[in-house]
Amino acid sequence: MDFVEQLKSSVDIVRVVGEYVPLKRVGAGPRYTGLCPFHTEKTPSFSVHSGHQFYKCFGCGAGGDVLKFVMEIERLTFPEALKSLAERYGIPMPKRAEYSDPESKLRAAVYEMHEIAAQVFRASLEASAGAEARAYLSRRGVTPALAEQFGLGYSDRSGQALTPKLQDKFSPEQLERSGLVLKRSDGTFFDRFRGRLIFPIHNESGKVIGFGGRALAQGDEPKYLNSPETSIYRKSFVLYNLHRAKEAIRKRDSAVLVEGYMDAIGVFAAGVQEVVASCGTALSQAQVRCLKRHSATIVVNFDPDTAGANAAERSIQALLDEAMRVRILELDGGLDPDEYVSKRGAEAYRSRLQAAQPYFLWLADRARKKFDMRTAEGRVAGFKWLLPPLQRISDAIERAAVANEVADFLGVDRGVVLREFRKQPRGRDSGADQSAVPALRRIEVRVIRFLLADSRSRSAIFPHLCDNAAVAGFQTGALVRQICALHEHAPDFSFSELRDRLSEADKAMLESLILADNCDQGDGDSVEQVIQALESECRQFRVADLRSRIRDAERRGDLAEALRLTEQMSQVRPD
Ligand code: UTP
Ligand code: MN
Repeated sequence: MDFVEQLKSSVDIVRVVGEYVPLKRVGAGPRYTGLCPFHTEKTPSFSVHSGHQFYKCFGCGAGGDVLKFVMEIERLTFPEALKSLAERYGIPMPKRAEYSDPESKLRAAVYEMHEIAAQVFRASLEASAGAEARAYLSRRGVTPALAEQFGLGYSDRSGQALTPKLQDKFSPEQLERSGLVLKRSDGTFFDRFRGRLIFPIHNESGKVIGFGGRALAQGDEPKYLNSPETSIYRKSFVLYNLHRAKEAIRKRDSAVLVEGYMDAIGVFAAGVQEVVASCGTALSQAQVRCLKRHSATIVVNFDPDTAGANAAERSIQALLDEAMRVRILELDGGLDPDEYVSKRGAEAYRSRLQAAQPYFLWLADRARKKFDMRTAEGRVAGFKWLLPPLQRISDAIERAAVANEVADFLGVDRGVVLREFRKQPRGRDSGADQSAVPALRRIEVRVIRFLLADSRSRSAIFPHLCDNAAVAGFQTGALVRQICALHEHAPDFSFSELRDRLSEADKAMLESLILADNCDQGDGDSVEQVIQALESECRQFRVADLRSRIRDAERRGDLAEALRLTEQMSQVRPD
C-alpha cells in the first residue's frame, strides 16, 4: 500500500472534518451531516460518510476524500495536506513522500522561517534589549504569563537579529518571499520588524503565518506594522486568535469580534475565550465563513472612536450576508474592549457582553435618535432609513419577522412594513441544488449497494449483470461497468479507487446514491433478492423488446417473423 492509501486508511474523515465543522450523525448509520464549510447555507446539505470515507455537499458540489477536504479547507497543496494530516495523527512519513513541487517547497520554507522568527522575537523580549517592550506590556497590564501564552515578542532595533539566522539556512529567493526581511539597494537584507512589540498571527491549525508589530515609542509610524501577504499568509482568510478561540466559540455557540490585537488579548485574559480580532480591516466573506463553521452567532464589539467605524459597518454587512446572527456591544465611556476590561474588570465586561443587543434593535435605537419619533412622519422616515439593511436579510421569513419587530419598536404600523416590502421584493434565498442528480430506480440503488458492499456480494451479482440487457438501460450503466472492471483487476478495491475512475457525472450519481436517506437502512434486502429482481428486470426487458419487434414485423406484413417472435416471447418465463 502506498503512503497516501495508508494515511487515508488510518485517519477517520469524520474526525478530521469534525475539527472544522460540527457534524451530526444521521440515526445510527454511517452518515453525518452539517453545514457546508464551502458555501453559505442554513440547512445542512453537507454529508460525510464514515463507511466510504468521503464528503459531499449537494448544495455547492464540493466533495472528495479526506485529503481533498484538508486541501480545500486549509488551502494547501496535495503534499502539504498529506504532511499536515500525517503530523496531526502521528503517522510517520516516508522520506520520499517529502515535497517535490516548488510551491510546496517554498511554503514549507516560509513556515519554517516563521517558526524561527517567532523564537527569535520571544527570546529578544526576555533579553536585556527587550526591557522597553516588557515595561510597555506591564504598563498595559499584560503579565509575563499572558505574553507567553500569546507568544508575544520583541524585534531588536538593529535590524540584524533575525536576518543572519535565516540566511544560514535559506536561499535569498526564499528570504525575499518570507515577508520577514527587506532588501537594500545593494542587495543586502535586514529585518522588516525593528524595535517593535511583536504579535504572532496563527492560522486555524495554530501555525505562525505572520506578525503584527506595534511601535513602542510615541510618534513611531505606523502604529502597527504587519507582515505582507505571502504564500502562507492570505489576510482575507485569517482571523487573529481563531486557533485559540474556536473551542470556546463552539462551546458557547457564539463568538466575540474585536478590532485589535490588544483587545483580543485583554478580552481573552478576562475569561472571554471566544474572542477573535479582525485586525483593523473590514471582515471578508472568507473570514466570516471561517467563523461560521464554528458558530452562527457573533457579538461585534465596536471600537468606539476609531476611523474603523466604517470597517465595522462593512464587517456587519459581511456577517449578515452570510446569515449570521449579529449582536452589537457598544461600550460606554469611549473605551475600547481592552481598556474596558482593565478599567472596569472582567465581570463588568462579561455582563455587558450578555446584554448586547441584536443588530437590528441596536440599529433601530440609532434611528430613534436620528429621527423625530414624536411624529408619524418621523417614525416612518426612521423605518425607511432601516429598510436597506433589512432588505438584505436573505431569509424571507426572518426578514419579515425582524421588520415587524423593528416596526413595533419604532411604533410604525405593520401595514407600512408590508407595503414597503411589496415595493422591493427580494428573494436571494436560492437554496438551489446545483448538482441535481437524476432520480434512480430502486433496482439500480439496490444493485449498486451490494456491488459496493464487499467482494463476495460482487462475485454473486456479476453473472446476473453481464448479459442482462436491462442493465444496458440503467442510468448507472457506466458505473456498474467501472465497478466490474475494478473488481476483476483488484477484488478488494477501496471506495476512493473507484471514485477516482469515474466521470464527474457518475461520481455525483454514486455519491448521491450512497448518501440518500434510504440507502443505509438495511431493509432486509439480500443478495438473492436483488438477483431475483435483476432476473425479473431482464425478463421484462426482453418481453418489451420482443413486443415492439413483433409490432414492427406486423406493420411490415412479415407474419412469419411475427409468429417466430411470439413463440420466443412465450418461452420467456413469466414472474
Ligand atoms: P487600534 O489602533 O485600535 O489598535 O487598531 P489597538 O489594538 O487598540 O492597539 P493599542 O491598544 O493602541 O495598542 C486596531 C487594529 O488595527 C490594526 C491592528 O491590527 C490593530 O490591532 N492596525 C491599526 C494596523 O494594522 N495598523 C495601524 O497602523 C493601526
Ligand atoms: Mn486599544
